[in-house]
Amino acid sequence: MRATVLVVDDELSQRELLTELLELEGHEVFSAGDALRASQMIGSQPPDIILLDVNLPYKNGLELCRELKAQEELCLIPVIMVTGMTEAQDRIRGIEVGADDFLTKPVDRFELIARVRSLLKRKEYTDELDRADNVLMALGSSIEAKDPYTEGHCMRIALYSQELGRAIGLPREDLRALRIAGCVHDIGKIGVPDAILLKKGPLTAAEWDIMRSHTLIGERICRPLRSFQPVLPIIRNHHEKQDGSGYPDGLRGSEVPLLARVMQIADIFDALTTERPYKAALSLDAALQQMQVEVDRSWWDPTLFSIFSEIAHLEGLPRVDLAEFKNDQDHE
Ligand SMILES: [Fe+2]
Repeated sequence: MRATVLVVDDELSQRELLTELLELEGHEVFSAGDALRASQMIGSQPPDIILLDVNLPYKNGLELCRELKAQEELCLIPVIMVTGMTEAQDRIRGIEVGADDFLTKPVDRFELIARVRSLLKRKEYTDELDRADNVLMALGSSIEAKDPYTEGHCMRIALYSQELGRAIGLPREDLRALRIAGCVHDIGKIGVPDAILLKKGPLTAAEWDIMRSHTLIGERICRPLRSFQPVLPIIRNHHEKQDGSGYPDGLRGSEVPLLARVMQIADIFDALTTERPYKAALSLDAALQQMQVEVDRSWWDPTLFSIFSEIAHLEGLPRVDLAEFKNDQDHE
């Protein structure tokens, strides 16, 4: 398996040695003498794996590792920390900053090759999952593309719901789930015929039943992907209401999963503030007033709604740049 490897070490002889051993294995090797240079190289062309010395000038390897593991788009690159023989403390700190494996200096050739191989195998597996994620995200966006009036809806839901999620202190995994849900929450509409999906007049009771099934179909489509597990409750329950009159499960109050409640606020707000063939876009104040009426009717979570109103009034919601968002998606 030919891979790109970045070797980061301030000692030239060590860089040369590791480069030679890895090239013998058929890998393409780049090297950097300090963490700043390494950061630049990783930013411009992320490698498949990084061998990182702990002791580096300016910024040490542990700090660089912590920075990489905090970035969503880089955190899956395996990092092998290279430590001195007696520096057990470095290993403990390496584990804390998210290092994937360790090598001790002087590096044993066979150990190096074995560790690199095993991590590359794991990387291949996560890359495959990542590609599957992207396929589903693209599929989700293609549902939106059927109706030009909803263009950008996914992206705005993702941004608004993440903003609300951050305000209530949700952890990073939940923010990620909200971002994905913005694109895939209606993916089940793929199983709803266009004659119903795009029907101009009111739907019959039977047609409504089919339309409502998009929550269950969506959950079924995404269930096989392990990385989508936190997103499933959002997909299934994004049409529940606080009074139990929603679907598919008729959940009430806090029975409705928190992330679904967060996304609902973003979803409704965006639907109200966007122009559709049958209605004009409401202003921010008018949309929030309308939502307040629906909160009073026990449809949406009152606490989340008041936090969202506060963000919208005091801090302003994030500006949406469609081209930029599409770029971000392409690079994930
Ligand atoms: Fe939906």
